[in-house]
Amino acid sequence: MRVIAFYSPKGGVGKTAAAVNIAYLASREGCSTLLWDLDAQGAASFYLSGAQPVQGKKLSKLLEGTAPIAKFIEENVYPDLDFIPAHKSFRNFDIKLEHEDGNGVLKSLLAPLSEDTSLVVLDCPPTLSRLTEQVMKIADQVYVPLLPTWLSMNSWDQFREFVADKKLGIKKLRPFFAQVDRRKKLHRDLVDRRSELFDNALRATIPYSSIVERMGEEGLPLEVLAPRSVPAENLRGMWSEIRHDLWRKGRRVVVD
Ligand SMILES: Nc1ncnc2c1ncn2[C@@H]1O[C@H](COP(=O)(O)OP(=O)(O)OP(=O)(O)O)[C@@H](O)[C@H]1O
Ligand SMILES: [Mg+2]
Repeated sequence: MRVIAFYSPKGGVGKTAAAVNIAYLASREGCSTLLWDLDAQGAASFYLSGAQPVQGKKLSKLLEGTAPIAKFIEENVYPDLDFIPAHKSFRNFDIKLEHEDGNGVLKSLLAPLSEDTSLVVLDCPPTLSRLTEQVMKIADQVYVPLLPTWLSMNSWDQFREFVADKKLGIKKLRPFFAQVDRRKKLHRDLVDRRSELFDNALRATIPYSSIVERMGEEGLPLEVLAPRSVPAENLRGMWSEIRHDLWRKGRRVVVD
């Protein structure tokens, strides 16, 4: 089982949109995938199950361990795609982890799933917290959407410092530009210079597009909503890069 996270300390940059689309693309290839919405706002549910967002179960139940994690999973929202929806109590995740000295809580919660799940995709809230630290520890790779602005670059540097200071694994971080508007010179400049600005940015970038916003209204992954759109094509490219990061094998996912 591999674990990836979409994370940024900045809000509204496209973590959830990327997490949902990448989880969908993985599952479409027959990779048994679990998307876990760790953000109390529950946005992933809107992108996946549209008109009827799914309400998750209380965090305390999950952490008490009275019910197995399988009880929290919405199975087969699409073939091979399972989903753990958020619940508003997830906003207390940090406090709970702090109080219960839960160093390996996420890891032990996921452990029972490792037999049947090939890929876990974590959609994270935009906070630098105990939960973030645990996510960094257990994730094989962390993908960080950045808007192509200098402020965003600055926050990327600060985040890298945080990860380095805490020894959370700086090598697993891979940034990518999101909401790219090529009509803007700064966006074009930063995107075109990405291989010089970062040593490990994803080649794929996500353009600014109203079709991505429509995902939330329609409750559908882009590959279903608008497979011929440019963002959908770029997301397929992103999934190829991620698959290569995780398995470093040919085109098809190899489940270990
Ligand atoms: N490529 C894009 N083009 C246009 N709009 C986008 C794009 N990506 C995301 N958005 C819009 O921006 C908003 C935030 O997107 P999303 O929820 O994916 O970001 P986030 O980083 O997960 O936010 P949060 O920090 O609140 O969890 C949404 O309204 C979404 O529709
Ligand atoms: Mg989000």
